[in-house]
Amino acid sequence: MLISTKELLETAQKYSYAIGAFNLYNLEGVKAVVNAAEAENSPAIIQILPNILEYGGSPLVALFLEAADSAKVPISVHLDHCGDRAIIETALEAGVQSVLADGSKLPFKENLAFTCEMTTLAHAKGATVEAEVGRISGTEDGMTVAEKETKMTDPYQAKEFVVESGVDFLAVTIGNVHGQYYGEPQLDFERLSKISQQIHIPLVLHGASGLPARMVQQSIELGVCKFNVNTEVRQKYLQFWREFGRTDSKSDLLDCQKAATEAMQEVIAKKIRLFGSAGRANAS
Ligand code: 13P
Repeated sequence: MLISTKELLETAQKYSYAIGAFNLYNLEGVKAVVNAAEAENSPAIIQILPNILEYGGSPLVALFLEAADSAKVPISVHLDHCGDRAIIETALEAGVQSVLADGSKLPFKENLAFTCEMTTLAHAKGATVEAEVGRISGTEDGMTVAEKETKMTDPYQAKEFVVESGVDFLAVTIGNVHGQYYGEPQLDFERLSKISQQIHIPLVLHGASGLPARMVQQSIELGVCKFNVNTEVRQKYLQFWREFGRTDSKSDLLDCQKAATEAMQEVIAKKIRLFGSAGRANAS
């Protein structure tokens, strides 16, 4: 059943678990999330990136929304990392329940102004907003440790940002990166603890691919209610096709689609159990 992201995250916050938000590209990804969430009796979030929205257009959004709505467990649909007002408007018009109004490339005041505007827009349509204070980088960004530090979320700035903008969830930067972690992830839990002392809305951690279980657990204890996952599921899908292309002579595309779905489903189900949302489909 289609549900609001806010409702999902506030329930997760109340019972101290987190919900997996999976970046999806196509029908196989959607089926993998819905099947895994149903098998684990868990809520889930389907995420679209703006470039995927541009590629798939309204048929793809309709697929995501319909799949969420017809699922036996609560699922919301969320627009990830979007700094473009027109795309946010399109997604909201299509029925997407929440957006990441991403002004994190902008200086603080401009990020705040953009987020305020998008929050007013989304709230008027009954939708909700995630914002990003600090800047989450990719693994390959080649920054020094000192440069990374300056991009991290400042707890007091975050508080000012949340109070002024009225956003519903906040994505934090505490050393998490998009893409692969080379070596042990270095998450600044002291910073996360200070952030959660300052603000009380659900926190979001991007770059959840490759985070060890104890870091996931510690993040949840410090207020993280949503983990974004893309790389691990996407890599599984790509690996499936690479290996299949080399070793299997089957030509029935449907069989391949089903097998690719199952491969991703396994990764997603593991994440759902790790985030503690398994068995929580009826929590309220
Ligand atoms: P990963 O690709 O590292 O899983 O991060 C996904 C993400 O944070 C999307 O917003």
